[in-house]
Amino acid sequence: MSSLVVFSVPKTGAGRVLPLRESNDFQSRSWLRPATVRCGLRLEVQESGNHAFMLGMGFVGQFLGHQLKEEGWKVSGTCLSEIKKKKLEGSGFEIFIYSLEDYDSSRISTSYGFHHQESLFTLQDATHLLISIPPSVLHFHRDLIWNRLKNGRVHWLCYLSSTSVYGDHGGYWVDEDTPPKPENELAVARLEAENAWINLGCDLGVHVYVLRLGGIYGPGRSALDTIIKQGPLSKDQQRRQHRRYPPRIHVADVCQAIRASMNKSSTWNVFNIIDDDPAPRSEVFSYARSLVMQRWPDKLDGISVDQETLNQHAQTGELIEEKRVSNNRMKSELGVELLHPNYRSGLESIARGYQLR
Ligand SMILES: NC(=O)c1ccc[n+]([C@@H]2O[C@H](COP(=O)([O-])OP(=O)(O)OC[C@H]3O[C@@H](n4cnc5c(N)ncnc54)[C@H](OP(=O)(O)O)[C@@H]3O)[C@@H](O)[C@H]2O)c1
Repeated sequence: MSSLVVFSVPKTGAGRVLPLRESNDFQSRSWLRPATVRCGLRLEVQESGNHAFMLGMGFVGQFLGHQLKEEGWKVSGTCLSEIKKKKLEGSGFEIFIYSLEDYDSSRISTSYGFHHQESLFTLQDATHLLISIPPSVLHFHRDLIWNRLKNGRVHWLCYLSSTSVYGDHGGYWVDEDTPPKPENELAVARLEAENAWINLGCDLGVHVYVLRLGGIYGPGRSALDTIIKQGPLSKDQQRRQHRRYPPRIHVADVCQAIRASMNKSSTWNVFNIIDDDPAPRSEVFSYARSLVMQRWPDKLDGISVDQETLNQHAQTGELIEEKRVSNNRMKSELGVELLHPNYRSGLESIARGYQLR
């Protein structure tokens, strides 16, 4: 027999999303409010099994999915291709094809339309929903998702966003209460998606979280992998090495923060998820090169940094969105103790587990 405990708290209007506008003048969108709201909660104690649904079974989705599956959860998710679907099914996940690009309401009866309906139908059974598809799922499928979740078992949902919503702050500190000022269309879309998911979660009366992530790295996706598998950095990668305070986070710590948000009932919806050390990428790559040199020196043969490109960018003084992002709320409210508080710890653990193929 399942038991149900319901708490209903009046919700505030703060952070409510306003209708999307057609204007391209995104920097003047003063109606974009920081998505830091408290909302009413329907807390459910459910005795039947946990079922996580990952809208987007990417790097984070898979890392978390494996953890949850080992603990006996049912894990479902979506991806873009049949090849990946088969691979993930081989690991024991229930997988659906779901692609925003393919969505077209006039073709809802085509095979793609069927895929969408089929994957979203399964949402009804999910107890936890993680959204790791970049914006904007709700733009296309809000009604479908609302209907599935409203009649379903979900009691926690989490949208993975990015610290890019803060924009440029000239190297000064920002935290979750800093009004976002996204400086490109993708960041604007992320902020709109944050608000839309918070509103949906509040309307459903479920726990809803927005996690603003720094650059995610981990096994298979790190400076070590770039050096070993890719070789010399591309011009764009070298250009990005000039950022002074790029926020980053190890995937294991992303998952730790997600798990903490599942297990705690916080009054806040929005959290920055980053480590303690926003070191420049050039420093990270330099450390990664030293690790490769110690362990696999032959992998560095013929690889050198294009010093000329580095100098050119240094001379032009090009600035890329600079800010230092606080992780205090993540620690104090979610109780996260970082497994990898800096890139050195993260890279060393990746190097230890690295299997050269
Ligand atoms: N990577 C970073 O450094 C970083 C930093 C800040 C925020 N984020 C955001 O955090 C989230 C999780 O990051 P991640 O590294 O795990 O992302 P990821 O590995 O790129 O995974 C994204 C997932 O979304 C799916 N997807 C991509 N475009 C789609 C579309 N148009 N329609 C439907 N599905 C689509 C992908 O399908 P496939 O599995 O078939 O590829 C994948 O499952 C993402 O939203 C990402 O943008 C990432």
